[in-house]
Amino acid sequence: MSTHNVWTHKGTFLLAAVGSAVGLGNLWRFPYLTGENGGGAFILIYALTIFAVGIPILIAETMLGRASRRSPIMGMRFLTRCHNTSRAWESIGWLGAASAFMILSFYSVIAGWAIHYTWQMLTGSLVGADAEMIGEGFDALLAAPGLLTFYHTLFIVASGLIVGMGVHKGIESGLRIIMPALFAILLVVLVYGIANGDFAAAASFLFTFNIADLSLEGWLAAMGQSFFTLSLGMGAIMAYGAYMNSEVSLTRTAIAIAIVDTSVAMVAGLAIFSLVFGAGLSPGQGPGLMFVTLPLAFAEMPFGALVGGVFFILVLGAAISSSISLIEPVAAYLVERFDMTRPQAVALMVVASWALGLLTVASFNIWAEGTLFHALAGRSPFEFIELLTNIFMPLGGLLIALFAGWALTHSEVMKEMRTSETWFMIWRFLVRFVAPAAVSFVFLRTIPQVEGYLIPTIGALVIVGAFAAGRTFLADGHQEG
Ligand code: PFF
Repeated sequence: MSTHNVWTHKGTFLLAAVGSAVGLGNLWRFPYLTGENGGGAFILIYALTIFAVGIPILIAETMLGRASRRSPIMGMRFLTRCHNTSRAWESIGWLGAASAFMILSFYSVIAGWAIHYTWQMLTGSLVGADAEMIGEGFDALLAAPGLLTFYHTLFIVASGLIVGMGVHKGIESGLRIIMPALFAILLVVLVYGIANGDFAAAASFLFTFNIADLSLEGWLAAMGQSFFTLSLGMGAIMAYGAYMNSEVSLTRTAIAIAIVDTSVAMVAGLAIFSLVFGAGLSPGQGPGLMFVTLPLAFAEMPFGALVGGVFFILVLGAAISSSISLIEPVAAYLVERFDMTRPQAVALMVVASWALGLLTVASFNIWAEGTLFHALAGRSPFEFIELLTNIFMPLGGLLIALFAGWALTHSEVMKEMRTSETWFMIWRFLVRFVAPAAVSFVFLRTIPQVEGYLIPTIGALVIVGAFAAGRTFLADGHQEG
């Protein structure tokens, strides 16, 4: 049974998808990756991969959702039946649900850090603090499992409440308030950054392109980031797509999502690096850029505590509009499959993901090292969960591209894309060949943490799998058009 939810307005899918896309990926991950990978060169490749791989898979994932009008798992079951293809494609739904469940567990813990910093900023605790004090403060936060659990609980419960209230009253109404507020706050922080920081240095860092900075590493990081930032491969976009009005053009919507998401990342980057350079700090701080370097920059500037507090509220809003999109696909499945009520389904997902999140909490302190888990997996539970999602996410995207590219018929795709034959051909070439090849590449890159011999094996399996999948459809004599 499908849930038959439909967004209230034609434009609501765009709002929801932008809410999902804009998150910690834009405000926390994008600036530090750019900082670590040489600025302009990284941005150039990032923009290229957004257009050549991100947008085509975004179109494909939304298409699978809207064509099935079901939650990702039930939707894929339905589509494999309609197209008489192997039920193995249902794994797209299962992989998505599993990744959403795991990502939510640690996304909520990290968003919890932003609650801590909002509080610290607004109470003025960091005014005038020096680098050492702020660094020690961050370490002390990570060393306190009780405090981390408290913030994690607050964040995940808030997300659950929004989704539990329903697609219209909860998600839509929540996003109508959160998203405009986010854009307004982002502009305030940008103006503050221009007024108090070194905007020229930030702009030249982000937009000066130096060919020598183009490393393979940076190329791969950019690919992974374009995937994460567009929320691809996790069923989030598919679940939201299932509620989308049938008349809206997928092509135009996907391009709009990518443009807004990329602009937010750029504006956030400009604002953050203006402050960082203005305070004479280094851009290549890694994940601590937002939680250590930035509070330090705010600590030294006029009204820094207030604007810093507002900045961390922006981070929280962006994180919550993304985390609700991680709950929806799983909750919708539980409602469809087991006839649960929405609050029951959301509660089940949230409580389970919360419990898994305790592993992430412990990974920064009591289980940071030397446990049986480390002995077996060679890494902390958090790093293990992150590694799993880094594998599942590209794998999900790869399968989505292949299924949409090879299994859907010409007329089905045209009905969804509402575009010219030329655009259709370009899209199909990208999802059939370019995206799978590029994603396999990223996929290989995410596994070097795994012992050496596994990399070639998994790589070979992915490539053989992709070709086998393509050939199966051809061998089935699949009808085009
Ligand atoms: N796109 C989000 C971000 O950039 O923070 C992260 C995310 C949300 C990924 C939802 C995947 C997802 F399903």
